[in-house]
Amino acid sequence: MAGVIRFGISLEEHLLKDFDRLIKEKKYSNRSEAIRDLIRDSLVKEEWKKGKEVAGAISIVYDHHKRELMDVIVDIQHDYQDMIVASQHAHLDHHNCLEVIIVKGKSDKIKVLADKLRAVKGVKHGSLTLTTLGKEL
Ligand code: NI
Repeated sequence: MAGVIRFGISLEEHLLKDFDRLIKEKKYSNRSEAIRDLIRDSLVKEEWKKGKEVAGAISIVYDHHKRELMDVIVDIQHDYQDMIVASQHAHLDHHNCLEVIIVKGKSDKIKVLADKLRAVKGVKHGSLTLTTLGKEL
């Protein structure tokens, strides 16, 4: 790894024990990689809070028999087509569909889009997973 700096961390023994137990459960091979991920996670969350360009996935589950609902969902997606990178539709059973919409853009705009889709009458569940474009990590 280029430009890697080693530094020491002081912390209470019980915290270290708990941390070691946690990273073992999460399958980390060493503390450094676990700490790197914690730092990256904090930096990514800061990107979301500051309204930076991020990537994300919006998942919605709905009953496709409600025809008007599908029209509304498609209309909303067309309004935000500049942010939508791709979408995938899966038929879960005879009634239920899962749609995953991959988005890229300002985090606050992505949240508005996710809220609009979730709020459509008939959408049974919606979730937003935000991540990073990875450029600054
Ligand atoms: Ni379907």
